[in-house]
Amino acid sequence: MTVHALRGRAFGFTPLTMISPLISPSILSADFACLGEEIAAIDTAGADMIHVDVMDGHYVPNLTFGAPILKKLRPHSKKPFDVHLMISNPAAYIHAFADAGADILTIHPEADPHAHRTLQAIRAAGMKPGIALNPSTPANWLDFLLDEIDLILVMSVNPGFGGQSFIPNQLEKIRDLRTRINAKGRDIILEVDGGVTPENAPSILQAGATSLVAGSAVFKDGPSGYADNIKALRRDQTI
Ligand code: DX5
Ligand code: ZN
Repeated sequence: MTVHALRGRAFGFTPLTMISPLISPSILSADFACLGEEIAAIDTAGADMIHVDVMDGHYVPNLTFGAPILKKLRPHSKKPFDVHLMISNPAAYIHAFADAGADILTIHPEADPHAHRTLQAIRAAGMKPGIALNPSTPANWLDFLLDEIDLILVMSVNPGFGGQSFIPNQLEKIRDLRTRINAKGRDIILEVDGGVTPENAPSILQAGATSLVAGSAVFKDGPSGYADNIKALRRDQTI
């Protein structure tokens, strides 16, 4: 994200902060029959990253795809692959996803009794480690993990499906996490995933998020709408 802070206090202006969030469209809402073309289309339409939802039908009640498909998709975009693992035992798949070309690999700590070790292994494999927090998982799960991660994914719906409604009480968690990140002083992307729309994006960004995942809000009208839909989410927010 880029943040331009215009601090006008000395000049009598109201302080103004412009935020341009990263936009990471979730291909869960893309046409699975032509995923390569879909990824190329959102890349051209202005996506900053490609959000890839990997589900195993065990940790979450839905199935998508795994590393072999990701590897076939890799040549279709040079943008970072922001891979969200909603799977049990994520440690077993680190090398497969590194080999497939994942740039960020995010795990759910509830799915891994040794999350600290898994995050270190993700970094050792050459990827940026991320942690996802379910709506009912409190922010303090991260107390002893903040040194290990480059991204926090706040799930603003229960994971497993696209097209659900944003859970408003997650704004409080985003604010809490923003405070923790600032206190830590590390450059950690604060990403929000689930039910994100142009209407609720301003409040999500005001709470301190720096990256927005969106499935339905980007893919809803087919390829001709992608650029406008991304622009509607990204439009510089003044807070
Ligand atoms: C849900 C996934 C999300 C989902 C978002 O389990 O992690 O990435 O695709 O879809 P929308 O934006 O439609 O809520
Ligand atoms: Zn996701």
